[in-house]
Amino acid sequence: MTILGIETSCDETSAALICDGKLLSNVTVAQFFHSKYGGVVPELASRAHQKLIVPIVDEALIKAGIRKQQLDAVAAVYGPGLIGSILIGLSFGKSMALGLGIPFVGVNHMEAHVLSNLIEGPKPSFPFVNLTVSGGHTQLVLVDQPAGSLAGKPFEYRILGETMDDAAGEAFDKVAKMLGIGYPGGPEIDRLAQSGNPKYVDFPRPYLGEDSLEFSFSGLKTSVLYYLRRTGFDKSRTESKVIADIAASFQAAVVDVLIHKLLLAAKKFSVRDIAVAGGVAANSELRRTLEKASEDKGLRLFIPKFEYCTDNGAMIAMVGYMKMKQGMVSSLELTAEPNLQLTERVSP
Ligand code: KG4
Ligand code: ZN
Repeated sequence: MTILGIETSCDETSAALICDGKLLSNVTVAQFFHSKYGGVVPELASRAHQKLIVPIVDEALIKAGIRKQQLDAVAAVYGPGLIGSILIGLSFGKSMALGLGIPFVGVNHMEAHVLSNLIEGPKPSFPFVNLTVSGGHTQLVLVDQPAGSLAGKPFEYRILGETMDDAAGEAFDKVAKMLGIGYPGGPEIDRLAQSGNPKYVDFPRPYLGEDSLEFSFSGLKTSVLYYLRRTGFDKSRTESKVIADIAASFQAAVVDVLIHKLLLAAKKFSVRDIAVAGGVAANSELRRTLEKASEDKGLRLFIPKFEYCTDNGAMIAMVGYMKMKQGMVSSLELTAEPNLQLTERVSP
């Protein structure tokens, strides 16, 4: 079974081909021009998707050595994300499926991130706890296989905790803006922090109580702001070494909190396999510290390759493939849902 997956929920245009569960190609263009505006401009993102969608899909097909007549289904993201951006990939995907007379599968962007560790091996076994850390979400999820495997969903999700305010990636982006470094801020803070002292400023770690699996990053972001004001920070005059030290100190606080909660969730739910997904999973300090911490605790850690951390068509194609195997085809009336949830949150 050969599936085309399309991802256009934010500022990456991406398409991928999967055949019988094996990834054949994944082509992504990140719209870097947003950096000059300090954040994603939704209307410009939609226009760029409109220009890129045909060449990106073509390139994904060519790289995979697949003709579109060989496709068995088209999968595209239908939420959450920016409505104008989602609509480009979704309308394109539905039209292509209609034109080729094959099924269309709508994919939830959050579900795709959660399952991005299943794109390529080694893969976690079930149940596992996944931490999705992206620009829009910070969510701890227990992922399990339903009792009867044809139960209507490829997997079962239970949200264990999520952010009450800013997402981890959003905090990286906002702090980067305060420090006068470009958008997206995460990769730039990551790069600067490599030469910084993480103990330079003791920023607060928002744990929200010993046992809590919820997150909150807006207080931490505000402490960075107050620190910068108090110390008379000025991008053009502050030494670059000091900027690196502040970036490293902020990053250390975020990483400490993310790791603490992920390990706590693994303990609470007695799982051996833990996973991280989403753009912030590309963070080198998070990866390094988590590798060490999981080894110490005897846990198996799964983090996708860099290109499957940030938004990508491969994760959409993979979920599309899993849904198709269970006969979960979508109606062509499926429309964009900017606030789509992974699942309803139930109290423990
Ligand atoms: O998953 P993603 O590509 O898009 C969303 O669905 O939001 O995540 C984008 C986020 C941005 O906030 C970006 O700053 C952050 O991921 N990010 C990073 C790194 N690379 C991307 N944050 C920290 N360190 C990185 N290396
Ligand atoms: Zn994402």
